[in-house]
Amino acid sequence: MQNFLSLDNLQENEILQLITEALDYKNEKRSLPDLSKHSVATFFLENSTRTRTSFEVAIKKTGAEFYSIDVATSAIHKGESLQDTLDTLGSLNINAVVIRSSEEFYYEPIDTSLIKIVNGGDGAHEHPSQALLDLVTIYEEFNDFAGLNVLIMGDIKHSRVAKSNVKVMKRLGMNVNVFSPEIFKHEDNDFEYIYDIDQEIGNYDVVMLLRNQLERHDEDTLKLHQTYLADYGLSVDRYNKLKQGAIVMHPGPFNRDVEISSEILQFENIRINRQVTNGIYARIAILNYVLNN
Ligand code: CP
Repeated sequence: MQNFLSLDNLQENEILQLITEALDYKNEKRSLPDLSKHSVATFFLENSTRTRTSFEVAIKKTGAEFYSIDVATSAIHKGESLQDTLDTLGSLNINAVVIRSSEEFYYEPIDTSLIKIVNGGDGAHEHPSQALLDLVTIYEEFNDFAGLNVLIMGDIKHSRVAKSNVKVMKRLGMNVNVFSPEIFKHEDNDFEYIYDIDQEIGNYDVVMLLRNQLERHDEDTLKLHQTYLADYGLSVDRYNKLKQGAIVMHPGPFNRDVEISSEILQFENIRINRQVTNGIYARIAILNYVLNN
């Protein structure tokens, strides 16, 4: 058994295998893995609908036993450390735990000899299972990654989705640009910014929007939201400038009429619901990698 913490820890061929595996499960070309000898828990220290429920669906589809640990009533609130909590779950014969935490790199000091960790998101640092389902969605659409032009736009600074995706997309041969208001920029050499969205949006095969993370914004930043859609978001006008065959993605949850216009949510190029569905199969592949390897 092994941890699943970041796609940085996997070779490109391993990532491609997970993508193919997920699509094979989805298209019923491969039987779902039988993980009925294993048990998996979720422990979400930050809110979630998609990741948490999607892992729950994935766990149940594999036949593994499932335990949802309620953080609010857990001994974490009596001061128990994460290490001691995980050792306790491991001693209860739970094999792996999906964790989301607001703390970046929460997993680094943890000894995982008793239980394996699946990273369900660590602060603004990484969201590897989201990145994998995003890759599954792109591969399903284009059947290849090489040479695809990807634009990731929005609240880059606070986005673990952007941090995971930019790195892995480049490794897999995609050309990745980012766009954001100045205050949402994340300064890193891997992040190549564009500045004239209206001029350039038609160059991209994939446009990935990000949630404006209101809970991490101060009052000044919140003012930006009043004109965000027109200034920085995917408005109807910008949607109409997309390249033919381009797809629009968003990890969710989205702020309607802030980063994306409500009007376009049902348009044909939008893949948001498909991403959610693909998340089930990506996470089955992740569970198989963690428990069966
Ligand atoms: N995309 C995503 O991580 O959504 P949740 O916060 O609902 O899990």
